[in-house]
Amino acid sequence: MEQQLITTDPIAYEKIPTKIFKDSKEASNAVAHEIAELIRERQRQNRNCILGLATGSSPKTVYAELIRMHREEGLSFKNVVSFNLDEYFPMEPDSLQSYVRFMKEQLFDHVDIPKENYFIPDGTVPASKVKDFSEEYERKIDAVGGLDFQLLGIGANGHIGFNEPGSLVNSRTRLMMLDHSTRVAAASDFGGSLVKVPKKAITMGVAKILSAKRVVLLAWGERKAPVIAEAVEGRVTETIPASYLQTHPNAMFVIDERAAHELTRMRTPWVVEDVEWTSKMVKKAVTNLALTLGKPILKLTNKDYNDNGLSDLLARHGQAYEINIDVFNQLQHSISGWPGGKPNADDTNRPERALPTKKRVIIFSPHPDDDIISMGGTFQRLVDQGHDVHIGYQTSGNIAVADDEAIRFIDFVVDFNNKFGIENKETQQLFADAKEFLKNKKDSDVDTDGVRYVKGLIRRGEAKATCRFVGIPEENVHFMDMPFYETGRIEKKPLGADDVAIVANLIESIKPHQVYAAGDLADPHGTHKVCLDAIFAAVEQLKHKNFMKDCWVWLYRGAWAEWDIHEIEMAVPMSPDQVLQKRMGIFKHQSQKDGVVFQGTDAREFWQRAEERNRGTAQLYNKLGLAEYEAMEAFVRWKF
Ligand code: F6R
Repeated sequence: MEQQLITTDPIAYEKIPTKIFKDSKEASNAVAHEIAELIRERQRQNRNCILGLATGSSPKTVYAELIRMHREEGLSFKNVVSFNLDEYFPMEPDSLQSYVRFMKEQLFDHVDIPKENYFIPDGTVPASKVKDFSEEYERKIDAVGGLDFQLLGIGANGHIGFNEPGSLVNSRTRLMMLDHSTRVAAASDFGGSLVKVPKKAITMGVAKILSAKRVVLLAWGERKAPVIAEAVEGRVTETIPASYLQTHPNAMFVIDERAAHELTRMRTPWVVEDVEWTSKMVKKAVTNLALTLGKPILKLTNKDYNDNGLSDLLARHGQAYEINIDVFNQLQHSISGWPGGKPNADDTNRPERALPTKKRVIIFSPHPDDDIISMGGTFQRLVDQGHDVHIGYQTSGNIAVADDEAIRFIDFVVDFNNKFGIENKETQQLFADAKEFLKNKKDSDVDTDGVRYVKGLIRRGEAKATCRFVGIPEENVHFMDMPFYETGRIEKKPLGADDVAIVANLIESIKPHQVYAAGDLADPHGTHKVCLDAIFAAVEQLKHKNFMKDCWVWLYRGAWAEWDIHEIEMAVPMSPDQVLQKRMGIFKHQSQKDGVVFQGTDAREFWQRAEERNRGTAQLYNKLGLAEYEAMEAFVRWKF
């Protein structure tokens, strides 16, 4: 048998070998190399390599690396025969959401795989023929000798392929009703409209997946963390179909740190192995102990430590009391109502420096509303406390505006122009075209440049309204329109030098003492991550400049997730009135209210998520025995 490139030693609690990588790129490269090695091995043996392939966001980076290897290293796909897991039903192959189109765009059109060598379930077969089609699909796989390698993603509900919870271990390829949660997660691919998401899909059955000689499942981001922990550490159950992989002799989960977050070795590593007791690890262990036992930190006893796998830590420090006080103080000192530094205060016990008392600040906001949703309270405090606050809106956010919203605004402009006798042929044409296009727009159409521009303007107007509301001058509001975002589709371009240059130029022109950036890597389409990468790259370019020596970077998290309590280095409290004020600021983003295009799997509106999260953070501090605030925004410092 071929040598597997990705291996790992068995880890306590884990029933499927699981390899954790720092990020999805590193992980994907490793998986792509294993696939490439298998293809080459088969070439040497003069045999075909039979791959089972997946769609969705997870395998994209694997396919990108395979394409790179094809282009730069001459990796040929001539001997590859592939079978995809699934396809929506019904679905035309050239639709934007079709998995046929996905596979062509993400892989097949860029490598030399012969057209007759790839197979994808057909979303156009008549319903009455699906059963025959499915049986034939399995027969084809058997005819070529079965799957050598099966690549999988995992749904947040534990599905593999579209084998939804309830699928049996011996299930065959078939038509499957999609779970509600799967359809909600897919809605953003269908213009945010749940009703447009097909109710069914043809999926390869669990039995065929498990028959593959090797199975590698990918998962990125914290959205997948709970289900990964259940599949890897829980029992084998049909309610989490991915848990069937526990029974496979050669399956592996390849995941990033965020998706690994809920595994025992990440949550409480001290029960799995000897750990290095850094101050961060101590903080993690003690906050975890207090929250698990439901006790404030200062009430934890020696017995609590000993009974909960922390005797090693206790032995090092002697007494629980010493450890408790130390961690309590760290938490206490992370709370500050002065995010820009408190004038004339002693710096040693505060998260930010006092000097200079008036700081230049840039808040980078990936979309035009992340600033107010994620750190609206802190934004307001910085302005009220006299700092020179600039906002850099990194992307136009245009794809998140619904068509009827765009039509409403176009109508307004037409009426406005008519009323005031404004004639501008170019604008009139642009609006006429946009209106016509939207009237006839099909699901598979990508917005025209004109429509995208209109949608971008709507979001600009909302962002400006927020800035006026918080009280910063218009010249401090910077719309960066980073080019990577401007595809009109969910699929974005990779980060380019031009994107980084835009960020670097803004930083250089303002020479900030503080930069706030979205460290939220869990947004559904990865835009936040690209925006953050752009900031990291820009800072890397600029870090030798003098002004950068006095610049601190704070990371906030977006609407989708919060920092762990032990990671938080600055917690900015909010009073009940400040929470309401922030809510009003968020409301300026009318296009993102009530049935938004990119709702994600969370039915709550953005302001609700923000409030619940900020209240949740305050409650955690309180549970640990610190003062009870109404809400808190949390930050982690990135030291470059
Ligand atoms: C796709 C498929 C699904 C996805 C899963 C995860 O062919 O069969 O099981 O792998 O829904 O999707 P992403 O990767 O988009 O989170």
